[in-house]
Amino acid sequence: MAYILATGGLGFIGSHTCLELLALGHEIIIVDSLINSSKETLNKINEVLEFRGISAINRILFKKGDIRDLVFLKSVFQEALVNNKKIEAVVHFAGLKSVSDSILAPINYWDVNLSGTINLLNLMDKYNCRKIIFSSSATIYKPINSKLIKENSDLNPINTYGNTKLAIEKLLYDIYKNGSTKWAIVNLRYFNPVGADRSGLIGENYNINSNNLFPILIKVANRKLDSLPVFGNDWPTKDGTCVRDYIHITDLAIAHAKALNNVLQKNKEFLNLNIGTGRGFSVLEVIKKFKEVNDCDIPFHFLPRRNGDAPFVVADNSLANTFLKWEAKKSLKEMCLDAWRWGRHKTKSSI
Ligand code: NAD
Ligand code: WQD
Repeated sequence: MAYILATGGLGFIGSHTCLELLALGHEIIIVDSLINSSKETLNKINEVLEFRGISAINRILFKKGDIRDLVFLKSVFQEALVNNKKIEAVVHFAGLKSVSDSILAPINYWDVNLSGTINLLNLMDKYNCRKIIFSSSATIYKPINSKLIKENSDLNPINTYGNTKLAIEKLLYDIYKNGSTKWAIVNLRYFNPVGADRSGLIGENYNINSNNLFPILIKVANRKLDSLPVFGNDWPTKDGTCVRDYIHITDLAIAHAKALNNVLQKNKEFLNLNIGTGRGFSVLEVIKKFKEVNDCDIPFHFLPRRNGDAPFVVADNSLANTFLKWEAKKSLKEMCLDAWRWGRHKTKSSI
């Protein structure tokens, strides 16, 4: 079992991944500024594990801090070393992820996402920890209308958020290809992660500005919003609404565990892997399934197309199947059930 640093490990994808890594027996240091998460998630991770009959109390350490703070981040690597526990690999989730916010605050997005990553990589190099799994995104691809997206499809992000993700991938490629040290790097390009752990104890922090489909669905189901706006019904798709590759967060977490095994076994490697299900569902199909399985009402209305949307974004995930021996197992039904099990308790908070 390995000693792992998870930056942003209390966020949506980080918390579910830490849960699965702890369940497998790994030991983790979580670094998180809590800018979009809460320390309570740490207790919840332990609770879910206890429920599964696993104790992780001595295998999880939390350090509150910002990855842009070099002194703080260095102390994390140094403390591990002093305790004879060298950090073997990093799972790097920490970052900002809202497309709309990134357009409003580009400097902040470049600073957090890129400067934070450069700090991290500098310290990893200094402390001889050169294995990393990076949270990349399907947002870096150039939109194509109907074909499955492959890792070698054209890249062309159209917003600041996407630009920061692509820049980090390029930076990672440079340090893999050039320089005198060997790195093992896996960029996981997530498609549309949704749902929650089936315990309902951890999930996504739906903040007030979340404008992704599932947070809005939850808001409507919780009657915090009268009707769901569907952006466009004239797209060249099966029913005129956009098609996406929604992936259950637990499947995504398990993909990280497999990617981690992969980098732990390699000295020099660079992989870009699409992480999706390979299946696409339209907005109307998602609404229908959510209503059906949760027995709730989801009124909706059509609005014009949303700026920046593409009609069809679905992964060809055969490379991940080959390299990680991984494939997504959970259905859209489970995504809707689990998202609501988590989201229905959010009636009193912002959602
Ligand atoms: P999230 O906001 O839930 O988690 C990110 C975590 O990082 C949060 O806990 C936040 O507090 C922390 N954080 C942010 N800035 C930090 C900093 N400077 N220092 C330390 N901690 C910091 O987001 P998520 O959905 O879990 O996404 C995780 C990663 O995956 C992000 O890098 C995101 O860009 C990427 N990603 C997310 C999606 C998605 O749809 N959720 C899709 C593709 C890629
Ligand atoms: C899904 C579909 C909307 C809200 C985003 C980021 C991407 C990645 C995942 C981080 C689209 C439609 C939505 C609503 C709607 N994140 N929709 N009404 O845009 O595919 O991807 O999240 O890396 O970078 O761009 O996800 O959930 O916003 O939208 O009709 O109120 O739902 O038009 O077709 P998207 P989404």
